[in-house]
Formats: sequence, structure tokens, C-alpha cells
Amino acid sequence: MKTAIITGGSSGIGLAAARLLSQSAYRVGLVGRRAQLLEQAVDSIQGAGGQAWYGALDVRDAPAVRDFVEATVKQYGKLDLLVNSAGVFKLVSFEDTDAALWEESLGANLTGAFNFCKAAWPHLGGGQIINISSVAGVQPYSGCAAYSASKYGLVGLSEVLALEGKKRGIRVHVLCPGNTETPIWEGQAPAEVQQRMMRPEDVAEAVRWLALSPASVSFDRVVMRPSQDPWKA
Ligand SMILES: NC(=O)c1ccc[n+]([C@@H]2O[C@H](COP(=O)([O-])OP(=O)(O)OC[C@H]3O[C@@H](n4cnc5c(N)ncnc54)[C@H](OP(=O)(O)O)[C@@H]3O)[C@@H](O)[C@H]2O)c1
Repeated sequence: MKTAIITGGSSGIGLAAARLLSQSAYRVGLVGRRAQLLEQAVDSIQGAGGQAWYGALDVRDAPAVRDFVEATVKQYGKLDLLVNSAGVFKLVSFEDTDAALWEESLGANLTGAFNFCKAAWPHLGGGQIINISSVAGVQPYSGCAAYSASKYGLVGLSEVLALEGKKRGIRVHVLCPGNTETPIWEGQAPAEVQQRMMRPEDVAEAVRWLALSPASVSFDRVVMRPSQDPWKA
């Protein structure tokens, strides 16, 4: 059995990925801040026959991140996969973007992924990192100044790590999904628009596909979108 850590594993894309991976020969360690959500996620995965545990921590907290990674490696002897899905998204014009939103976006979406990559790197030889960026990490959208800055940054970080990982046998992939119906959209898109978005399970299938791909191949940034624009009826 392989060992994976999935940040943001308590909700949305991270939870769907954790469910699929737990049915694909991975034991999964879930990370988020809200312990109750994490407990529910672990219960549902275990109820379906999978193996899961969690760490309730903030991905911006580098010492807590290090402790969780080290405890996982101590328990299971190795780490095969890190999926960085933890993230926040607020649709806000640049004029209304204040320093707090900027710091929260960069902190959760970019520094958090950096913290996990950094802590996991020495343990990932022969393994893989999958970073969840966004289509807003490869093209601009109004209302996404802080979010796009974090997601473009995550693409850049991932692509440098993909190069540097070669000599350690670590593959680093970056997945850039478009609109996906998850709690991140609550209060930010009409219900009928959310219904036309991709399902988190659709994105999770791409995560599983990358995770199970042969170690002899690597993929450049993977961009996936709903086939119809959910904002147009
Ligand atoms: N949904 C979309 O349309 C879409 C499109 C492209 C990319 N993405 C990206 O996909 C990833 C997952 O988003 P989602 O749509 O699945 O949203 P979601 O359902 O809101 O899930 C976000 C997850 O991240 C965790 N999280 C947020 N900030 C955190 C922090 N500081 N420390 C630890 N955990 C944190 C949340 O748990 P807690 O709040 O309990 O900490 C939750 O588990 C994000 O990186 C997002 O930017 C989403």
C-alpha cells in the first residue's frame, strides 16, 4: 500500500481525490483546519474500506506542517504522494483587495504548498507531488488579483520543482482545473451556475490518473475545464 498526504482533504476536490485514491491502493492523510470536517471525511473513507487519518492544522504553519509530515513518515516508513489542494478563493476586484486578503490568498494557496513540498521533499524519492493550481493560474480573470497571483505562483513553483525533482526521482505535476462545484463557491456564484460546473469527482479522476501514471512519464501542466461555460446558459 502507498502513502499519500492530501491537503484540503476535508472538502471539495481534495476530499474527492482522497476518496478515489483510498480506493486505489493509497492510505491517505488528510489536512485542513476544521477538525470536525476532517473527522467526517476520515469516517466516510474508513466506512468504505479505506485507510485514513488526519491532521487539523493550518498549511501556513511551517512547524506544524513539518510535524505532520514527519509523523506520517515515522508511522508508515515512506511517503509516495503529496497532493496540495488546500486553498481559498474570494472573487474581489483589485480595488477591494486589501492586504489581509492578499496575505491569506498567498499564504494558503502558495506558501502552504511550499511548506508541504519543503517538508515532504526529502521523503519523496521515487514519488510524486500534484499541486492543484487553477485555470486562473494560466490565464487572467477579473476579480482574481490575489487568487491569480497565488495560482500563477503555484504553477511556477511546480514547474521549477519538476525540473529539480528529476535528479531525486520526484515527479511534480500541476493540475489547473476550471470551475468546479465545491463549497469554495458558496455565496460567489448563482446556484444554477454552480450546477453547470465540473464535479469534484471529475477533477479527482485527473488526480488519480496522474498518481497512477507510470513513473517513466511526466506531464506538463494539465489544464481541464467544463466543456460548456457554466456562466452561459
Ligand atoms: N472549485 C473550483 O472551481 C476550483 C477551480 C480551480 C482550482 N481550485 C482549487 O482547488 C483547491 C481545492 O478547492 P475546493 O474547490 O475543493 O474548495 P473547498 O471545498 O473550499 O476546499 C478547500 C480545502 O482547503 C482547506 N484549507 C483552506 N485554507 C486552509 C489552510 N490555511 N490550512 C489548511 N487547510 C486549508 C479547507 O479546509 P479548512 O477550511 O477547514 O481549513 C478545505 O479542506 C483549491 O486550491 C482551489 O483554489 C478550485
